[in-house]
Amino acid sequence: MEEGRSKHLRGGAGSYDSLVREKDELYDDPPPPAYKKKRLWIYGGIGVAVIILIIVIAVVVSKKNKGDDGDAASSPSATSIPEDSIPADAPAWLNPLQWTDTTDFNLTYTTDSVGDLPVMGLYTKWDDSAKANDHVPALDEKWGDYASRPARGVNVGGWLSLEPFITPSLFNYDLSQGIIDEYSLCTYLGSRCGSVLEQHYATFVTEQTFKDIAAAGLDHVRIPFSYWAVQTYDGDPYLFRTSWRYLLRGIEWCRKYGLRVNLDLHALPGSQNGWNHSGRQGPIGWLNGTDGDLNAQRSLDVHDRLSKFFAQDRYKNIIAFYGLANEPKMTFLSASAVTAWTENAYKLVRKNGVSDAVIVFGDGFMGLGNWQGKLTGLKNLALDVHQYVIFNTNQIVYNHTTKIKYACDGWTQQTTQSMNTATGFGPTLVAEWSQADTDCAKYLTNVGWGNRWTGTLNTGNASENILTPRCPTMDSRCACGEANAEAGRWSSSYKTFLSMFAQAQMTSFEKGWGWFYWVWDTENAPQWSYKQGLAAGVLPAKAYEKTFDCTQDIPSFSDLPEYY
Ligand SMILES: *[C@@H]1O[C@H](CO)[C@@H](O)[C@H](O)[C@H]1NC(C)=O
Ligand SMILES: *[C@@H]1O[C@H](CO)[C@@H](O)[C@H](O)[C@H]1NC(C)=O
Ligand SMILES: *[C@@H]1O[C@H](CO)[C@@H](O)[C@H](O)[C@H]1NC(C)=O
Ligand SMILES: *[C@@H]1O[C@H](CO)[C@@H](O)[C@H](O)[C@H]1NC(C)=O
Ligand SMILES: *[C@@H]1O[C@H](CO)[C@@H](O)[C@H](O)[C@H]1NC(C)=O
Repeated sequence: MEEGRSKHLRGGAGSYDSLVREKDELYDDPPPPAYKKKRLWIYGGIGVAVIILIIVIAVVVSKKNKGDDGDAASSPSATSIPEDSIPADAPAWLNPLQWTDTTDFNLTYTTDSVGDLPVMGLYTKWDDSAKANDHVPALDEKWGDYASRPARGVNVGGWLSLEPFITPSLFNYDLSQGIIDEYSLCTYLGSRCGSVLEQHYATFVTEQTFKDIAAAGLDHVRIPFSYWAVQTYDGDPYLFRTSWRYLLRGIEWCRKYGLRVNLDLHALPGSQNGWNHSGRQGPIGWLNGTDGDLNAQRSLDVHDRLSKFFAQDRYKNIIAFYGLANEPKMTFLSASAVTAWTENAYKLVRKNGVSDAVIVFGDGFMGLGNWQGKLTGLKNLALDVHQYVIFNTNQIVYNHTTKIKYACDGWTQQTTQSMNTATGFGPTLVAEWSQADTDCAKYLTNVGWGNRWTGTLNTGNASENILTPRCPTMDSRCACGEANAEAGRWSSSYKTFLSMFAQAQMTSFEKGWGWFYWVWDTENAPQWSYKQGLAAGVLPAKAYEKTFDCTQDIPSFSDLPEYY
């Protein structure tokens, strides 16, 4: 499959024009003038006084409340925790007095762990009686065969594993600072990394997110997270462990709304693909380079702990899919080394008691047909392929009519082929796809780079550069300005395209084990946001009720899309 190979082309700096353009957008806030600084001091002083007052009141109130903690129903605030119940040397991840957000966490201090991972924050009881909607079974009932009841899900991407294009506001620095991924961001922020990231964890995804996901007729949620939720290693700048608590709370909110979970280890020690969303963009250090084997072993250690934790009874009904490694770059890595690692990881996770969840491995951009006859004999193992037209130089130029046709025919054919063990691996799901028709979204190809659409992608590797425009007209009319228009301005013809393109993909991917849209929400990339697509009416109000399923006629769209 060609698109795997050319999916992520990357390398050096963007063209001069694109750098200048990006730089304008990236300018840091100017420093406040001197008189403002003085005022800031005064306001700051008042602020400190107010905070001291709040703390004093809180301590008094909490003393009064002593003894009636541990009430699940009333979700106590941190100020209700008896201050002497938390040991002075408790690390931040066990100490609710240091948490940015205490909503729906059990605040009773405990050092208990399972698989050497803390249970702190979890309530003891759980309830699996909810169902996402009337078309699917409750969590405590069997889902059945995914081939006849495909998953309809969404990714809460850019939350516990950062991605610049999803939350550009976190990467809003001068280009010269080189802040392009979570690694460089936390290196730059130093001790402030904790507060900046936890603020993001606490606000980017909330209980409302899961409520909205269920209301949209979706039934599964893929939750990408990174190895530093479990462990960090010497020299890592990453925020240790904080995301673990948010992951566990996210799973509990899924439970509340009857949503099944696909656990996605998105960033592995050393980086399994060298891309920004693996934590660190640059060389692959997983199964490659001096520490390649060490990082592969560390990744198994991470899975050892994760699988012991998620083998607990409380996760049996809700963890439907357990992912081993997101997008290992097998077009570079040794395919046999990755396959051997996958088999070891599979056996470890099963041995540790994760018995019901489907274990998921990535296609590694190998081409679906190449998985025929590989990794056979491992029960309940599924292949995960990510389908996009816009990372492929030959497909991004399709006009809207052809993009929909390809989504109907090409992807149905690929899914069907992969599902058949005579021609492919067998169980296949599409755990990432989107409605995007261009690669124009800010930071999508990388912070400060150009893109294929306008022919400004300079990867620093002459054979991978894309320096001629790759839109349907393939000339100077290829422009990004309109393509990035906010959803509220979309023209009716563009909406028709988006709606058909999305439903064509759903239809094709439902020939397999189902799909997970990438992503639930973005700050500034509307074609990538399920939430914004729903609001604009370009996604079915209920994911199980499609109005287009590839049996209808596809309109003839003009080559130059009318975005608004
Ligand atoms: C809160 O956590 C503590 C410590 O793990 C546990 O003993 C207690 O039962 C939990 N409270 C509830 C209401 O689940
Ligand atoms: C950053 O992530 C985006 C989204 O997955 C991807 O398209 C892009 O190629 C990545 N860039 C780099 C340089 O890793
Ligand atoms: C593999 O590792 C070597 C040594 O660290 C590094 O120079 C190279 O860039 C890596 N290859 C890739 C594709 O990242
Ligand atoms: C440049 O890209 C080509 C095509 O992907 C690849 O074969 C080659 O190894 C790359 N060169 C370097 C120096 O990375
Ligand atoms: C879209 O592309 C297809 C395939 O290249 C072509 O046959 C068709 O005429 C194009 N449609 C328009 C409106 O240009």
